[in-house]
Amino acid sequence: MADNEFDFVVIGAGPGGYVAAIRAAQLGLSTALVEKRKTLGGTCLNVGCIPSKALLHSSHLFEEATTGFADHGIKASKVELDLKAMMAHKDGVVADTIKGVDFLMKKNKITRLLGTGVITAKGEVTVDPGGTGKKEVLKAKHIVIATGSDVAPLPGVDIDEKQIVSSTGALALPKVPKSLIVIGAGVIGLEMGSVWRRLGAEVTVVEFLDHILPGMDAELSKHTQRTLRRQGMNFEMSRKVTGAKKAKTGVTLTVESVKSGDVEEMKADVVLVAIGRKPYTDGLGLDEIGVERDERGFVTVNDKFQTSVEGVYAIGDVIGGAMLAHKAEDEGVVLAEIVAGQSGHIDYDAIPGIVYTWPEVASVGKTEEQLKEAGIEYNIGKFPFTANARARAMGDVEGFVKILADATTDRVLGVHILGPAAGDLIQECVVAMEFGGSAEDIARTCHGHPGLPEVVKEAALAVAGRALHI
Ligand code: FAD
Ligand code: NAI
Repeated sequence: MADNEFDFVVIGAGPGGYVAAIRAAQLGLSTALVEKRKTLGGTCLNVGCIPSKALLHSSHLFEEATTGFADHGIKASKVELDLKAMMAHKDGVVADTIKGVDFLMKKNKITRLLGTGVITAKGEVTVDPGGTGKKEVLKAKHIVIATGSDVAPLPGVDIDEKQIVSSTGALALPKVPKSLIVIGAGVIGLEMGSVWRRLGAEVTVVEFLDHILPGMDAELSKHTQRTLRRQGMNFEMSRKVTGAKKAKTGVTLTVESVKSGDVEEMKADVVLVAIGRKPYTDGLGLDEIGVERDERGFVTVNDKFQTSVEGVYAIGDVIGGAMLAHKAEDEGVVLAEIVAGQSGHIDYDAIPGIVYTWPEVASVGKTEEQLKEAGIEYNIGKFPFTANARARAMGDVEGFVKILADATTDRVLGVHILGPAAGDLIQECVVAMEFGGSAEDIARTCHGHPGLPEVVKEAALAVAGRALHI
């Protein structure tokens, strides 16, 4: 094979793209990875999952030190915030993890190319390094579009990443704003809103709908909002932002009530626009070669991730569905295996979604609303963290585990958790669902004591009305 010929060329080195490349290389395919950003890891590693979780953890520690330690008999006087050091920690975590991805590319002998990948013909990707750099033409048996997503803009509210920021700007504010308005009560809004509230900002979330976290089980969404409100986050629901005026002293937003049409003004030092993300396909040459997209711009694929053009595939955020790193990764693995002649599929009902507020919010499978709409009969088992010894010892008793199981077969159809470490607790439920498990399977599994997972076990027992510790 010539130097520029590959079995598998991936465009975009996010969790979808770089993981697909690793799996393809493991399976013996000669693999190249094209990325236009100087660093690998995509949105998730550079400006998404990892920096946000670093700040969420650090700000949680800060809040614990300022208000939580006293309950445990720890006197921490003069707790001070060193925002610069907190940001440096976050940047260090990102930089170290990027080095890890670099290492994985070398280890798997994946050819890395820096530049914008354009599909210039069937089986051909041209890599444009920009500026005066020389373009490189790659021949590829299989081309993978893994170009991810970008911030959805809000007309009339132009992002400058200083006063009006996207999640990227919100991850790097140079000082704690006195006031922050978050537009959108989705995952980004609540996570980044939590970070800045914990660090001292007065945070107000303006949401178009009458509930937060759309798509989430309604009971969970309601409890989460109540919890966040109690923590000091303000919510202005059923309102849409229609414009923004910037001045040296802050940003004034025009906000319209969805119900009455009344218009009011709201002012803050900084505004975060977090109303969703859109597929990113700019400059890829998709129209020229005829790769079809839906009306919202997502690349359309079949169950083998094939696009409308033979030999061109797509995975991750760019094909829609849950915009989550682990969903993109799993699609990358399955695609590489299919291309290598194996079979594979993804159970989209068993992909967990986690909101890393504190308490965390985690969900997998169907919500009660979805089951009702589908006319599926179900039983509910619920158990609160207040009745769990470990949660009490930790002083983290907010929330509950709710398991929805088929009324006839007892098969687990959905699990919804608000509580400490909910993101870790959900995982045993995901495994149970992957195995087609029942609530009884979870209930009869021995869980270590004292532990938070006992709340999951008790909720599973509660499905059959036989919880023990309540
Ligand atoms: P991306 O990660 O977006 O990667 C696409 C890559 O393609 C980018 O690096 C881009 O530069 C590159 N690219 C685009 N076009 C070209 C081209 N023509 N040529 C070369 N390169 C190109 N998900 C979670 O599961 N958990 C979380 O905690 C979480 N937190 C998040 C926090 C924030 C603030 C944000 C914004 C997102 C978060 N997400 C989280 C979502 C997660 O980041 C995405 O679902 C994930 O990154 C999607 O992976 P991907 O590989 O499809 O695309
Ligand atoms: P989102 O889709 O989660 O939420 C956007 C919110 O904005 C919705 O509640 C919507 O009703 C509201 N909205 C839309 N237009 C509005 C307007 N004009 N005025 C007021 N509200 C408006 O999108 P978000 O939070 O931007 O996140 C994007 C993606 O990133 C999500 O799909 C998520 O999957 C991913 N992500 C995942 C994380 C995780 O897994 N922990 C963390 C952060 C992001």
